[in-house]
Amino acid sequence: MKALAVAGVLLMCASGVHAKGAFDDGKDAIEYRQAAFSLIKENFADMAAMLKKKKPMDKQAFAQRAEHLALLAPIPFNGFKVAGSDKGDTDALAAIWTDGDEFNAIAEKFQQATKELAKVSQQDDMKAIGKAFGAVGKNCKGCHDQFKAE
Ligand code: HEC
Repeated sequence: MKALAVAGVLLMCASGVHAKGAFDDGKDAIEYRQAAFSLIKENFADMAAMLKKKKPMDKQAFAQRAEHLALLAPIPFNGFKVAGSDKGDTDALAAIWTDGDEFNAIAEKFQQATKELAKVSQQDDMKAIGKAFGAVGKNCKGCHDQFKAE
């Protein structure tokens, strides 16, 4: 019996689905990842407003937002590895778990893109900043189109 249970846990880990990790259950994981995405959007939208001149460009504030975005970028993704987090009050599509490689690949590209944006935001090259920002946005949209409802 014990050996079977251990084998079960190993199997779950191998498939990337963890019993619960830092979370109480699937519902807790869903709430956590949604909260993380809200903070990601908070930072992203503020930078977009500056780039689109909807508010004055403040290079220091922009760089700080970019730094925060890069720190936040990995945070939602453990919340998808929790058993039971595929159901409930969530916009996550089933494809996340059936096409996990593609989801993880975009998540990885997204994190790299936020690091690049944080780096170029330290400099004064607005063209490079615009380009790096666009690369981040492409990953938000690319992932939502495939893996998020609405
Ligand atoms: C690799 C995939 C992926 C990337 C990259 C990604 N998202 Fe999402 N996002 C999701 C999924 C999946 C959900 C649905 C989560 C849920 O409801 O459980 C979501 C949900 C959200 C939500 C709703 C949160 C809530 O309160 O329900 C916002 C806002 C959001 N994302 C913004 C962004 C922004 C802005 C970016 C880029 C800067 C981004 N996301 C990048 C997959 C992604």
